[in-house]
Amino acid sequence: MAKTLIAFFSRADENYFGGAMRYVKVGNTEIVVNDMKEMIEEESRAHREAQVPHAPRTEVDTFKIEMKDPYSPVYMTCIDEAKKDLRAKARPELVSMPASIDEYDTVVLAYPNYWGTMPMAVFTFLENFDFSGKTILPLCTNEGSGMGGSERDIKKTCPGAVVKSGLSVTGSEAANAAGRVKKWLAANGLI
Ligand SMILES: Cc1cc2nc3c(=O)[nH]c(=O)nc-3n(C[C@H](O)[C@H](O)[C@H](O)COP(=O)(O)O)c2cc1C
Repeated sequence: MAKTLIAFFSRADENYFGGAMRYVKVGNTEIVVNDMKEMIEEESRAHREAQVPHAPRTEVDTFKIEMKDPYSPVYMTCIDEAKKDLRAKARPELVSMPASIDEYDTVVLAYPNYWGTMPMAVFTFLENFDFSGKTILPLCTNEGSGMGGSERDIKKTCPGAVVKSGLSVTGSEAANAAGRVKKWLAANGLI
């Protein structure tokens, strides 16, 4: 059975939603990740119940990329901290790392656009493993900058990986993105 890892970074707390600041319990990217996990598991369950022979079945794990010293819950402070880390090419220490990613052939990498690329903690995660021979599907939530330079940065950081065309999701509309996300997962053979 194919095994997929959804590795993601997402920040709750104060964020900017269409002109207003609001505190949230679950970040935009995590909303999309929860939907994706459910879609993949549901598809697998449906195939199993229908006993479809040779149907693709995907087992999925999730891993949250969390900083040991997280950014501030206050949006404007977080903006500054993340910019400093970007400028310094920081590699923030993570709370934990998966012991190995050997068992996964596909990694869905989901993250917010931070200053035109991924949060530096995602670089910390990527640099810890050898992704050669694996397929990476990038998904980036953002408020207008799309994928930014993130796909290029993933390719540079993970030589030997097949990096598929990413999906950009407007963060403040994450809860309404299921249709597009489903299409993208299907186009990439995950459901
Ligand atoms: C530090 C920081 C930098 C950001 N930089 C950008 C940016 O350059 N372009 C953009 O479109 N959105 C930017 N955003 C908005 C986020 O990408 C967007 O709100 C995203 O959905 C947040 O995901 P999360 O809630 O899962 O953390 C930034 C947000 C933060 C906190």
